[in-house]
Amino acid sequence: MNKTYVITGAASGIGKALVEHFAKENIVFAGVRRKECLAELRQISVNVIPFLIDLCIEESITSAVEFIKNKTDKIDTLINGAGCVVAGAIERIPVSELKRQFNTNVFGHLSFTQGLLELLDGGRIINISSIIFLYLINLIIK
Ligand SMILES: NC(=O)c1ccc[n+]([C@@H]2O[C@H](COP(=O)([O-])OP(=O)(O)OC[C@H]3O[C@@H](n4cnc5c(N)ncnc54)[C@H](OP(=O)(O)O)[C@@H]3O)[C@@H](O)[C@H]2O)c1
Repeated sequence: MNKTYVITGAASGIGKALVEHFAKENIVFAGVRRKECLAELRQISVNVIPFLIDLCIEESITSAVEFIKNKTDKIDTLINGAGCVVAGAIERIPVSELKRQFNTNVFGHLSFTQGLLELLDGGRIINISSIIFLYLINLIIK
């Protein structure tokens, strides 16, 4: 076995594709928000270790960090792949939805990364992120 990866957003899209790719030759901790996704991840490979994480819930992030720390003392690559898009006119989007987006795409990942930092000594952190930066630019130029 080569390296140890941690990937969030593993239920679908980019995150799931990365899990399938890297699990061929590596151990992959695969994070999902919904329990019903765990079984499907186990089917991919014995190299996949699924775990639950909701990036909007601090206790869930803490539990995920503890789960990983109990199973490994080194991570080679953390891929923060989870994300959501809340689209629409900035003046009409409910602030609660924007908070969910920022918590998922920014603060949740930051908290998760901080929790795993001691295991990442010499490792890589890859943030996929999302449309959130367009909001910021939009607000600045108006
Ligand atoms: N695909 C593209 O071309 C593209 C381009 C630029 C940027 N992006 C960004 O890249 C990221 C991944 O894209 P994708 O196409 O793979 O999207 P996706 O298929 O929607 O995958 C996003 C994943 O994030 C998970 N997620 C959402 N909210 C979460 C939360 N609070 N806690 C934990 N996990 C959560 C989702 O789980 P659930 O299914 O349980 O919600 C889902 O598995 C997104 O942020 C997207 O905006 C994508």
